[in-house]
Amino acid sequence: MGVISHDVRSGSKPDRNLALEMVRVTEAAALAAARWVGKGQKESADQAAVDAMRLLLETVPMDGTVVIGEGEKDEAPMLYNGERIGDGSPPEVDIAVDPLEGTTLTARGMPSALAVIALAERGTMFDPGPCVYMEKIAGGSDVADLLSLGEPLGDVIARVAERKGKSVGDVTIIMLDRPRHEDGVQQIREAGARVRFISDGDVSAALFAVSAEAGVDLLWGIGGTPEGVLSAAAIKCLGGQLLGRLWPRDDAERQAAIDAGYDLDEVLDVDRLVSGDDVFFAASGVTDGDLLQGVRYTRDGKATTESLVMRSRSGTVRTVSARHDQAKLREVTGGRYD
Ligand code: FBP
Repeated sequence: MGVISHDVRSGSKPDRNLALEMVRVTEAAALAAARWVGKGQKESADQAAVDAMRLLLETVPMDGTVVIGEGEKDEAPMLYNGERIGDGSPPEVDIAVDPLEGTTLTARGMPSALAVIALAERGTMFDPGPCVYMEKIAGGSDVADLLSLGEPLGDVIARVAERKGKSVGDVTIIMLDRPRHEDGVQQIREAGARVRFISDGDVSAALFAVSAEAGVDLLWGIGGTPEGVLSAAAIKCLGGQLLGRLWPRDDAERQAAIDAGYDLDEVLDVDRLVSGDDVFFAASGVTDGDLLQGVRYTRDGKATTESLVMRSRSGTVRTVSARHDQAKLREVTGGRYD
């Protein structure tokens, strides 16, 4: 468990909110990635976000370990799993990053790409090991207790409709548009509910699904495990629930997970995915989306960003709008991003 101040553990006084420092990190990643919006080069967009995120993370006093990062050290020169971040001073934290959630969305100039980071006490974030995907279902706090990955989707939807006082035909389930979801789509349509497909970006979709004012009721489907952990961190701040279950792609991955001690039947809720009770989350829009506005450029050489900044302990959810002076930023960052 990390060294988060004793005063705070006993609830005696507020302390440093790391999420407020993390918003500079996601703003930087969003600004850097935004230069690649619509350019058809997803790797370049991702690399720009990683570099900018790394540059800003170095400025944060903390003792961080990347638990959810860009992959293994050999393949990812920066923000790789296991990398130590910060100057080694307290607090000790686990870090989950997705510098660019929605690389294809960015490359194609499509909605809802985000730069995302979450922090929690050391040792409290779920490490998905060899499993790249998980099944997920998420909904707001009003239906959190009704979610299930074991029961037929139609039954869950019927309960959600009843709880929300609407007809099943008005329930909307957001999901990634993937062939692996064919059965689920059929179940939803047989139940009479609606599907809203997205091409990518299930962190944004999960957050949208747990937001009370959103036009969707549930997120369902198989998406990335890193995105599942990041979504869980956000939901611990926002309220609501996400249930996940590891989904190995083939027998080799299944065996690797079993050998590593994973229980593939276990249903992982947000408290299992991020067990810490002091979770910090920040996300900035790269392209415009349901959740956040993307990076925009104004005539006077300024760029604007919009970010979501949250902490689970206090429950404070901030939307931060910022205006960045591109010329000054270029100077400050040595031209790394603007
Ligand atoms: P990237 O930003 O890494 O491209 O991920 C986007 C994403 O759509 C995630 O939001 C989602 O969890 C995952 O990819 C789904 O994976 P796949 O595209 O392989 O179905």
